[in-house]
Amino acid sequence: MDDSRRIDPWSSEQSTDYARISDQFGLGSIDISKLPNPGILHRRGIVFAHRDLDVILGCMERSDPFGVLTGLMPSGKMHLGHSMVIDQVRWFQEQGADITVTVADLEALATRGTSLADGRENALREYVHNYAALGLDPSSTNVYFQSGRPAVQRLAFTLGRRTNLSEFEAIYGFKGDTNLAHVQAPLVQAGDIIHPQLEEFGGLRPIVVPVGVDQDPHLRLTRGLANKTHWFNVKARKAGGLTVTLSIQDENLNVFGVGPNGRVDRSTREAIFARLKASLVPMGYSDYIANPKHGTLDVPGAKSSDAAQVRMCVLALERELGGMGLMPPCSTYHRFAVGMTGDKMSSSKPETTIFMDDSVEAMTRKVKRAFSGGQPTVEEHRLHGGDCSKDVAFQYLQFFFESDDDELARIAREYESGRMLAGEIKQICIDSASEWLTDLAEKRDMWDGRLDEFLAPDAL
Ligand code: TRP
Repeated sequence: MDDSRRIDPWSSEQSTDYARISDQFGLGSIDISKLPNPGILHRRGIVFAHRDLDVILGCMERSDPFGVLTGLMPSGKMHLGHSMVIDQVRWFQEQGADITVTVADLEALATRGTSLADGRENALREYVHNYAALGLDPSSTNVYFQSGRPAVQRLAFTLGRRTNLSEFEAIYGFKGDTNLAHVQAPLVQAGDIIHPQLEEFGGLRPIVVPVGVDQDPHLRLTRGLANKTHWFNVKARKAGGLTVTLSIQDENLNVFGVGPNGRVDRSTREAIFARLKASLVPMGYSDYIANPKHGTLDVPGAKSSDAAQVRMCVLALERELGGMGLMPPCSTYHRFAVGMTGDKMSSSKPETTIFMDDSVEAMTRKVKRAFSGGQPTVEEHRLHGGDCSKDVAFQYLQFFFESDDDELARIAREYESGRMLAGEIKQICIDSASEWLTDLAEKRDMWDGRLDEFLAPDAL
């Protein structure tokens, strides 16, 4: 793949060609009519793509357990761009998810030289405090540190056996001079994403990871790694239904009855097939076509939409038999809000974004200077109207500050018709943002000294 078509999760450049990215990497598009109580980011098309979100929606519908995993870099300040992920996390939590938050202190150490102590301090003050203020419920939220969870690192090592430098080159474009911190970080991140499924962290259940598209390479890697560990594959059956096939690997030769000479031990294999069918009893299928010798079980009566539930059944069996039993992670992707100056939002350029603890004065100054979609003169503006797609004040109302869809539509109409001037839309943005920031600061005060409620036992 040529470098321009790759996504680089560490780059300060961001591709915003969302249609191409979706297409190239096979992301699903979001059908908001399928989402219960869609939030503003869903209603406004800001969360635009996903992988396997239907698996999560199925869990919501059946009230089956599912989790969310999200992560933060504990260097730099939290700004509006980061708050978008937390809005989605809160929505998932309201629909029944448990929440795991990774503090990527090892990644920050490796890629930015942030000490673990500074990373901890920064994570709590800048991020966890604001997550609390943004309304995450501590009773089902667990914040942990990469450096404090050996299980994550163990997984990174275990999963690392299933990939190689060629795959890293294909996904990330690594070359001979790539710093090894960039090889370690994705493996640890795969560990982060997978580990909530371990027994001691909640057990087998689907996990969804809401991210910006810049993080998709990590999801592709992690999903691939999970799939490579599978002892059973679930596929569409040509003649209708689903087929479960055994995936023979070194570590399951004995269990699946494959002898040293490749010969299949009939009674071992038949016993596995009996257990395989038994694992599917909750699905209520009546016929199976079993071919133990070839390692296939056809389920003609299965619907294609049953695939995730069938997979969950066979992953549970895989665990009983001694495999890892890992569900590939699901994900959602959001568009990035434009930076206030018209280019990318970045913590290192304070004028490009609003920080969660910006004063009303600082915010006001930034909005007043922000990139405008207005016309050069009032006369032209009255004639041609403003351009919402370029106007930062409008977009910040849309992404963050105006939760009422009708009011937002009214503002858009007024602005585009030229009745509302650029200065006026900026003032509306300033008023809403003032309220938003003041409210957030009050909520932060409420959580002062109580952040431990969000920390997992190994993070205290
Ligand atoms: N790499 C992420 C970042 O740069 C941080 C992170 C670490 C993360 N582990 C994660 C994000 C797991 C999502 C899921 O911000």
